[in-house]
Amino acid sequence: MAERLYIFDTTLRDGEQVPGCQLNTVEKIEVAKALESLGVDVIEAGFPISSPGDFKSVEEISKAVSLPVICALTRSVQKDIDVAFDALKYAKLKRIHTGIGTSDYHIQYKFNSNQEEIMQRAVAAVKYAKRYVEDVEFYCEDAGRTDNVYLARIVEAVIKAGATVVNIPDTTGYCLPTEYAEKINFLMENVNGIHNAIISTHCHNDLGMATANTMAGIMSGARQVEVTVNGIGERAGNTALEEIVMTLRSHKELGVDTNINSKNISSVSRIVSNLMNMPIQANKAIVGRNAFAHSSGIHQDGVLKNIKTYEIIDPKDVGIDDNSIELTARSGRAALKYHLQSLGIELTQEKLDKVYEGFLKVADSKKYVTDDDLLMLAGKDRVDTHRIKLDYLYVTSGVGVDPKATIGLDIAGEKFEAESSGDGPVDAAINALKKIVNKKMVLQEFLIQAITKGSDDVGKVHMRVEYNGNVYSGFAANTDIVAASVSAYIDALNKFPD
Ligand code: KIV
Ligand code: ZN
Repeated sequence: MAERLYIFDTTLRDGEQVPGCQLNTVEKIEVAKALESLGVDVIEAGFPISSPGDFKSVEEISKAVSLPVICALTRSVQKDIDVAFDALKYAKLKRIHTGIGTSDYHIQYKFNSNQEEIMQRAVAAVKYAKRYVEDVEFYCEDAGRTDNVYLARIVEAVIKAGATVVNIPDTTGYCLPTEYAEKINFLMENVNGIHNAIISTHCHNDLGMATANTMAGIMSGARQVEVTVNGIGERAGNTALEEIVMTLRSHKELGVDTNINSKNISSVSRIVSNLMNMPIQANKAIVGRNAFAHSSGIHQDGVLKNIKTYEIIDPKDVGIDDNSIELTARSGRAALKYHLQSLGIELTQEKLDKVYEGFLKVADSKKYVTDDDLLMLAGKDRVDTHRIKLDYLYVTSGVGVDPKATIGLDIAGEKFEAESSGDGPVDAAINALKKIVNKKMVLQEFLIQAITKGSDDVGKVHMRVEYNGNVYSGFAANTDIVAASVSAYIDALNKFPD
């Protein structure tokens, strides 16, 4: 029987810190439910003292999911811990994740302090959190660059104070896999009472070694890993959940496994990518569009003779099933519901009816309705709450034609129309939009992605629009790429503060 590795998912905390990835509470609940269906053990739901929005999200996620432990982040500060506990009040299973920087860089430059003082603050924080909850995790920030002897002393002290999990983050993504393995081995051999706590990895990907370092940690005895879906996270990101889960499934000889329902990996990956406006690179391990595509002749020949010649993972194991029943205009609600469930989306009957209406329209305009279409339809109600909505859009463009666009907007119930020309249909449409929304805004990034299977497939558009010194992200998907572009721009507009 394989030893159990706990999956601590920090998509909604470390992942959400990425500029442009911020979710509202409803979206966070959607991700949390998807993570619950995936089978993660712990959801780090936020950093409650950091903002009222984070507090509310931790509170609402605590109400919405019941199987995973809900965890809230704090600094080693009493007020943070008070607020975290308050935010966790509805959680069935709760954990406080407190900690402090332990490397010389942090001790000297961030805290202007010394090792003994930091040790006292660490112990005091754990003892304080223990007044509230049994399950207290302690993080030694920048452990990757912390001297191992001091790290062992602080780990021993916090375990003695009651920490149930100790997190050894490679905060800057600096470590080599051998170095990180040595660090965990050193703790295993030199900390009295180490077996009274679970040791956790938390690796960042600055040098592209987050997964390798996490695996090195597991092979040295860590039994919790802190990961994010698609590896999203600050800078180059965190360790990708799917990479660790499938590495362990592919290397059974390691004798370690997780509780993850790997068939949900692909759908959760897409939910996170869509909601967080973070496209997945095509060659991303496990969840990239090309992860299971064999395009060279030699590979295709081998795969046809025996799939194992070039494939180490059965795509079905991560929820990619090209043979699944196709959805067409003749599919009923039951088939739609089944597909949505396989994508990790559970809808009320009322919402299902609404999505079904949209589904029939898409199915009328194209032969097969894809998973991406469904994800787009299921997320459509977010647009319904927008203050600024696209009513209609007429565009003329083509070879030898001056692009022109007429746009109709609904702004808080009031109707507006404008027309304009431009350098292409998207530019014409955005120029028309700018005549109505008269603000100084600049399009900073415009990414069109994923027309994956045919010319009738959904195009996804990500945009970043600068306004008043801040950058706002917008996302939309549509079979009409101009409509998707304008909708993505409007999605960004709806995030402006006024
Ligand atoms: O990278 C890091 O050190 C962190 C801690 C706050 C756990 O995210
Ligand atoms: Zn981190």
